[in-house]
Amino acid sequence: MRKKVIFDTDPGIDDAMALLFAEAHDSIDLMGITTVFGNASIESGTRNALFLKKKFDLKADVAQGADIPLVVEPGEPTTFVHGDNGLGNIDIPDEDFGMVDPRVAHDYIIEQVKTHPYEITIIAVGRLTNLALAYQKDPSIAPLVKEVIVMGGAFKFNGHTGNVTPFAEANILGDPHAADIVFTAPWPVVVVGLDVTQQSIMDTQYVEKLRDSSEKYGDFIYKITRFYADFHKKTANLDGFFVHDASAVAYAIDPSLFTTKKGNIRVVTEGPAIGHTMFKSDPRVYPVDEWSNKPLQHICIDVNSEAFLELYMKTLV
Ligand code: BDR
Ligand code: CA
Repeated sequence: MRKKVIFDTDPGIDDAMALLFAEAHDSIDLMGITTVFGNASIESGTRNALFLKKKFDLKADVAQGADIPLVVEPGEPTTFVHGDNGLGNIDIPDEDFGMVDPRVAHDYIIEQVKTHPYEITIIAVGRLTNLALAYQKDPSIAPLVKEVIVMGGAFKFNGHTGNVTPFAEANILGDPHAADIVFTAPWPVVVVGLDVTQQSIMDTQYVEKLRDSSEKYGDFIYKITRFYADFHKKTANLDGFFVHDASAVAYAIDPSLFTTKKGNIRVVTEGPAIGHTMFKSDPRVYPVDEWSNKPLQHICIDVNSEAFLELYMKTLV
């Protein structure tokens, strides 16, 4: 049976690449796209989702979500990474791409989970605000969710600790309170952090091959990733770019590509380490302990990146 997926996203260049990967793979039934602020404003991000839906004839609903974090001050959209329009400044036609779902994203999530109990996988590749709002509004959904796969955070495996501050990754830093709620809620969470996403790099040769061999998606992905590749060249002197959000989709398709570790996850919500994700894997209960009474979750600590990149190529071609 195909996996029913709600894709929670801030599109976003690598978000779009992940979305098309999910759409193209046989094992995934992409039911809904819920948008959140982040790489672009909520208006641009939602418009990008509707644009992708129309351009690639996606059947998924698009529901618009949060435009600000739960507690912290909202940051500016990360246009220096994703371009002013969130999709690498490609030309997006000035036309109507259709309507959003009448439900706000967190209500959409609640309703879909209740309609399809134990069947929905949520892949979240932006700030976790919509998921936290859904859980806060109706905690009874948590045990009904099949799995929550999150791209975000960093736990120092393979040397990765942060990409916005020395100790925080963008999606978690953008709404640390939401992330802490999601990681400590009683649904099964798998975190696909920088520990693995920065181990997978699509270099120029790879993207050129994708452009030339994927008739449906290749040219589009090549075009949107020029801005993203420039950003990685300037900031990390990389030939190519990290494959963040598509790594979370890869986990949904084939978890055996990843090595995981079980434990409690919490997020620092103030001070200089705000947005830092922390992991406790030892079973010891401490005298003062706001960890051991929380559900055990999983984090990814390693990836077979060669097999992942092959899977991405094979799926889109
Ligand atoms: C995450 O931040 C965004 O720029 C990407 O879309 C990804 O979800 C990586 O830190
Ligand atoms: Ca994203």
